[in-house]
Amino acid sequence: MLNETVILQHLNAAGFNKPIHIHVLESVDSTNRFLKDLPASNAIEVCCAETQTSGRGRFGRSWDSPFGQNIYCSIRWHFDCDLSQLSGLSLVVSMAILSILQPIDNDIRIKWPNDLLWHGKKLCGCLIESMGCSDVVIGIGLNVNAKNLHWGSLHEITGQHFDRNTLISQLLIQLDKHLKQFIMQGLTSFISTWQQVDYLYGQWVVVSQPAGHLSGRAMGIDALGQLRLTDEAGVMHYLASGDTSLKV
Ligand code: BTN
Repeated sequence: MLNETVILQHLNAAGFNKPIHIHVLESVDSTNRFLKDLPASNAIEVCCAETQTSGRGRFGRSWDSPFGQNIYCSIRWHFDCDLSQLSGLSLVVSMAILSILQPIDNDIRIKWPNDLLWHGKKLCGCLIESMGCSDVVIGIGLNVNAKNLHWGSLHEITGQHFDRNTLISQLLIQLDKHLKQFIMQGLTSFISTWQQVDYLYGQWVVVSQPAGHLSGRAMGIDALGQLRLTDEAGVMHYLASGDTSLKV
């Protein structure tokens, strides 16, 4: 079971000393929605739930949230800068998550902008919502102990059962570390890491955007975290958002 005290003990043991409130709920519509409606505070606010009744994904999709198996966790983070300076944030969040999963399996990759895949199966997705006032809600759905053939999960990869309280504390520690580096040194300090974990690099991909589809060969990211895509005519496109899939 998720347990706030256990998560805090892990954080203390690792020397994490920022003010933090952890809300562990049995059921909630969406952990992102919960934090967006929570009154302002000076602490990092975290909401984790055993299940979500209306878990939300990117592009208005829903996020399957079976009870007691996976991690549904949102973190409200305050940045001392304008949100317009945070382009590339979602990539940095996915690299923070990957840093705790790589020791479990080295074949996990990131599909731009922030899906974590294992052999093409989705393990983890992030929904990042800005609150306007330099606060951002980072929602993480990580498939941990679920045994479901459509997704990947850590259990499917290893056959083991994982303690979600430990993983959540590791996530918070790595998120703190990665966001600090992002603020101090910018996205460029992550580019070489990105190149090692980029699932799409060199592949023909289709990017769906509200305006339509674009296909081309993925050529990594630029300094703003935009996807570089060369189309059939050799023209380079720089995409700030979109849903990506391999072209079949
Ligand atoms: C995606 O890949 O589409 C993003 C999925 C994000 C799901 C997480 S689960 C915790 C948080 N609460 C939500 O309602 N969504 C995010």
